[in-house]
Amino acid sequence: MTAATNPRPTTVRLQRMVRAYRESAALMAGVELGLFTKIAEGHNTEASLSKAMGVTALHGERIIVACVGLGLVERDGDRLKNAPDVERFLVQGQPGYAGEWMLFTKPDWNEWGRLSEILQNQTPPRADNVKVSEFTVEDARRYHRATYSIGRGAGRLFLRQVDLSGKKHMIDIGGGSGAYCIEAAKLYPDLKASVLDLASVAEVAREFIAENGVSDRVEALACDFNKDAFPQGADVAVMASNLPMYGRDEFRAVVKKTFDALAPGGEFHLVGEALDADRSGPADAALWGLSEAIVNGTGLAHSTADVEGYFAAAGFQDIQTSPFVEGVLQRTSGRKVK
Ligand SMILES: C[S@@+](CC[C@H](N)C(=O)[O-])C[C@H]1O[C@@H](n2cnc3c(N)ncnc32)[C@H](O)[C@@H]1O
Repeated sequence: MTAATNPRPTTVRLQRMVRAYRESAALMAGVELGLFTKIAEGHNTEASLSKAMGVTALHGERIIVACVGLGLVERDGDRLKNAPDVERFLVQGQPGYAGEWMLFTKPDWNEWGRLSEILQNQTPPRADNVKVSEFTVEDARRYHRATYSIGRGAGRLFLRQVDLSGKKHMIDIGGGSGAYCIEAAKLYPDLKASVLDLASVAEVAREFIAENGVSDRVEALACDFNKDAFPQGADVAVMASNLPMYGRDEFRAVVKKTFDALAPGGEFHLVGEALDADRSGPADAALWGLSEAIVNGTGLAHSTADVEGYFAAAGFQDIQTSPFVEGVLQRTSGRKVK
C-alpha cells in the first residue's frame, strides 16, 4: 500500500475525542443560559447577548466564540444568528423546542468522569433499572418533559413510516409521556391506545394525554413490563427508546409477552438504539449501552440481529429491520400470523 492509501496515524482524532466533553458542556451551557433563545429574540451582538445572558463580557465572549466555533451560532458581519437546527430546536417558546432533551443525560455527568472506576465494580447488576424504578411523580414529570420534547417528533415519524389504518387498539410498552399514542390517536380518530409504564410515569402520561385532548381514547396504565401482564387483544404494539435499559433475557421475555398479548394478525414495532447486526456500531447505540454501567442494571447495547432473534423466538413472522433515525434508532417489526 502507498502512503496515500495508508497514511501514518496521527493523534488528531484521539485528541478531538478525548476533549469532546467540552463540546457537550458548551452546548448545555448555551441551552441553560438561554443563549440561542436570546439570539432569536434579537440580542445578536456579542455585547448585547452577554448582557442578556447575565454574564460578564469576558465570559460572554468565551461562550459565544465557542458556540460559533462549534457551528451552533453563525456570524453575519458583527451580527450573530443561530444555525438552522439550533433555530428550530433550541429556541424556547418555539413548537420544536427540545432544550430539555439536550439536558436529559446531564444528571449522569459526574458519573461519566469516573467511568473506569465504575467498570471495575464487581457487584452483580440489579434486575430493575434504578434510574426509572425509583422515580417519584416529580422525577417522572421532569424526565418526561424531556422525552416528550423529542418523542412527539418521533411519534410523527413513526406514523409516516407505519400505516395504522384500520387498527383498533395500540399498546405502547414503556410508552413514557405517551407521545406515540397521542400522535397516533390524533391521526386516527377510531384508534384506542394504552400507554404502559411504571406507576409514577403513567400518572404523568395522563397529564400529557389530557393536555392533548385525547383522554377519551388514550389511557395510561401502571405496568412494569418485566413483571406485569399486558392488556390482551391489541392489534398493534410499539416499544420505543428503551432497548439498552435491560439485558438479553429481559428483552426476550418482553417480546414473547407482547406476542402472546397481541390479537392474531397483530404487529409489533420495536424502535431501539440498536447496533448493526455485526455489532461494529453505530457509536450512539454502543454508548447508550455503556451508560447502563452507571446504574449497574442489566442493560447493554443489543444488535438488530439480537432483536430479530427475540422476535423469531417469540413466534413473530415477516420480521424486518429498517433505519428509523439514521445512526440513532432502528425499527424492527414482526407480525403474529393468524
Ligand atoms: C427513554 S424513555 C422512552 C419513552 C417513550 N417510549 C418514548 O419513546 O418517548 C424509556 C421509558 O421506559 C420506561 N421503562 C423502563 N423500565 C420499565 C419497566 N420495567 N416497565 C415499564 N416501563 C419501563 C421508563 O419509565 C421510560 O418511560
